[in-house]
Amino acid sequence: MSERSALIIGNGGREHAIVKSLGEDVKIFVAPGNAGTAKMSNVTNIAPDDPVAFAQDNGIDFAIIGPDSYIAAGLADKFRAVGIPVFGASQSAGRLESSKSFASSFMERHGIPQPKSTTVHSASELAVGTDPLSIVLKADGLALGKGVVLPETSEEAQTTLKEMLEGIGYEGAGKEGVVIQERLSGPEVSAFALTDGTNFVMLPFSQDHKRLKTGDVGPNTGGMGAYAPLPESIVSADQTAKINEIAKKTIDGMKADGTPYQSVIYIGLMLAEQRGGDPVVIEYNARFGDPETQVILTLLQDAGVDVYELLKSTDSTLNTSLLEGIAFNKTAITVCEAADGYPESPRKGDEIFGLDATLPTGVFIHNAGTKLEENGKVVTNGGRVLYVTSVAASIDEAAANAYSVIGDSGVHFDGMQYRTDIGKQARAK
Ligand code: GLY
Repeated sequence: MSERSALIIGNGGREHAIVKSLGEDVKIFVAPGNAGTAKMSNVTNIAPDDPVAFAQDNGIDFAIIGPDSYIAAGLADKFRAVGIPVFGASQSAGRLESSKSFASSFMERHGIPQPKSTTVHSASELAVGTDPLSIVLKADGLALGKGVVLPETSEEAQTTLKEMLEGIGYEGAGKEGVVIQERLSGPEVSAFALTDGTNFVMLPFSQDHKRLKTGDVGPNTGGMGAYAPLPESIVSADQTAKINEIAKKTIDGMKADGTPYQSVIYIGLMLAEQRGGDPVVIEYNARFGDPETQVILTLLQDAGVDVYELLKSTDSTLNTSLLEGIAFNKTAITVCEAADGYPESPRKGDEIFGLDATLPTGVFIHNAGTKLEENGKVVTNGGRVLYVTSVAASIDEAAANAYSVIGDSGVHFDGMQYRTDIGKQARAK
């Protein structure tokens, strides 16, 4: 192929946002994709048994891996082994996400601030009399975002720990061990560093909204909305410098350990009240965040960044010149519309209305759990169904534009759930 081409692995809102940000001049294949990518004229949804062979057979010159499970399975290594540039961490670098105990000992070795942590392999190692409200239990492995529990009672702490270790629930991610962490409080920040293993650049910080319902109540979810960048009232210049230092120590540490980290590293931080507001690493993820990607890549694209070249350069030498002179002086917000029954048991098959309406300038719909049926209807097909994303001069304007297209006269489906307070921390009171 002489034109630019890419194979994107994944089917969520994050992958739809990645696809959009690459630009319409890139020929894109998405495996397996969703209804949103299916409707784009430069995109083909595919389901190959072997994505590496598909990329080779079709002369595709760049692969982008969205979800963590593929990183943990070593897919990026397989693309690199056949000489196809890939945006994705190697399996060994990806242990920062796939093993919480690895991440904790890495931070310990490299002087990176984290909550006090200990890894246990037996339920008897939870000290008698431990205040359940003072700890967080994390199953060591990948658990589809369900491996973290904040117990409310001693009984819940004991039962959860026992079940995690026995591999009951939590996708079996606790069988190799459970990390018991000190419970901190404070605002959370999602920080993304693009890196080629040596050089790095920080993308605008964002905040996710994990609880299902407006007002930060209800069960935890994969993320009901996000916004970026964060104002200085939320992250000060001093805290920003400390976060950048954490990113540098992480990338330098991975290189020094012989497992250089390429692509994007997602550093989940808390500005911990217990540490005077200093950033503390709560978790690493070896991928872009979902839904943070919907706002960050929308901001980059809106600012005129060549996202394709920027992401591709992480596989060789990071091309920071692509960000030179770029000012992120707008704000992006994304609001999730989730299915009835999400997160416990999302209902599938509800028809989605309003997807073909003309959207206000700067408003986009990112599909996640959607399916295009043969009759042309788009139906719900997962827990987080859609994201309405908006970029504007201010967060208030972005929020107003996004919310203006959600509801009975805009995008809607039966049983739709969404929060009305995304970005509330930064919006006018
Ligand atoms: N935004 C949370 C995640 O991607 O894990």
